[in-house]
Amino acid sequence: MKANRIYNFNPGPAALPLPVLEEIQASFLNFKASGMSITEISHRSSHFEDVIADAIARTKRLLNLDEQYKVLFVQGGASLQFHMIALNFLADGRSADYINTGTWSTKAIKEAQILGKSVNVAASSEDRNFCYIPKDLNFDPNAAFVHITSNNTIKGTQWARFPDTGAVPIISDMSSDIMSRPLDVSKFGMIYAGAQKNIGPAGVCMVIIRQDLLERVSENLPSMLSYRTYAAKNSLYNTPPCFAIYTVQLVLKWLEDTVGGLEKMAAINRQKADMLYGVIDASEFYNATADPDSRSMMNVTFRLPNEELEARFVEAALENGLGGLKGHRSVGGCRASIYNPTGPDAVEALTDFMRAFEKKNG
Ligand SMILES: Cc1ncc(COP(=O)(O)O)c(C=O)c1O
Repeated sequence: MKANRIYNFNPGPAALPLPVLEEIQASFLNFKASGMSITEISHRSSHFEDVIADAIARTKRLLNLDEQYKVLFVQGGASLQFHMIALNFLADGRSADYINTGTWSTKAIKEAQILGKSVNVAASSEDRNFCYIPKDLNFDPNAAFVHITSNNTIKGTQWARFPDTGAVPIISDMSSDIMSRPLDVSKFGMIYAGAQKNIGPAGVCMVIIRQDLLERVSENLPSMLSYRTYAAKNSLYNTPPCFAIYTVQLVLKWLEDTVGGLEKMAAINRQKADMLYGVIDASEFYNATADPDSRSMMNVTFRLPNEELEARFVEAALENGLGGLKGHRSVGGCRASIYNPTGPDAVEALTDFMRAFEKKNG
């Protein structure tokens, strides 16, 4: 840990790799000898064109994307995607399958329904407060798409393997696990992710979309709400969030050049998650909230014997330089978000603290 910086377990916005922050700091006043900050240059300049081109090229390499897939940058967060998906792909009265695995899936369903679209909930884990990923899936073969949330940030569950949906494309919200593991992208018609957890700061959402879905986008949509606009203009139809895209580019560079790609990142993430679940499983004091076969490698959710102890845990952790451990306000408890930039050193510090706290209070 560097002086004055804490170990950051925030759920998002979340930790960024220190070398990325240092590079931003070093180049902040004079980006690539332009005499200007990245926040001052034109989005039409060759400087920024290089940034966005490199971010796209790195995304394609990291995820092994073929020429069928386009990488777009959209504002409005993952929440706007809930609306855009339904608007773009459900114009002709078709229905879509949604799998409800928690708060964010529920919101995605709600946004489609607000638009008057027909939604089939193909499976849900609501019966047990979303503590598992459902196995019994009732897909409609005529659905326009199947929507899933690959990692449930609040409930601490994650799809370990993705469902077989036949010819129906999967659209996945990967806000909290994009680039955390290798992915067979061919299963997906579209992937989207608010950047602010694994790949950057708040302010930009990455959208990866396959050509056949782009061709199905409804006609006559407002320009800013149509995927066609972003694809046709390389996400430069209007002024994009330049600083956020630049930071994403640097995080992707770190992933490729320093970490060494997604296989390596996944091995590190597995090691971090194993360390944390190991402490929880070895104890009667800490209780994991997700079923073992559905546990997230990104958001480790757990409870202590009572709420008073949980509050004390969060407070004492912060006093020990471990921040962001409070569970989401809708569920309570504790949550350690261990996205890509939060290293094994941070998790080791947390597990040491957890053992000591249990000894004292257990
Ligand atoms: C899985 C998931 N989807 C969607 C969102 C909402 O993202 P945004 O705030 O970018 O709209 C979040 C935010 O935490 C999330 O974790």
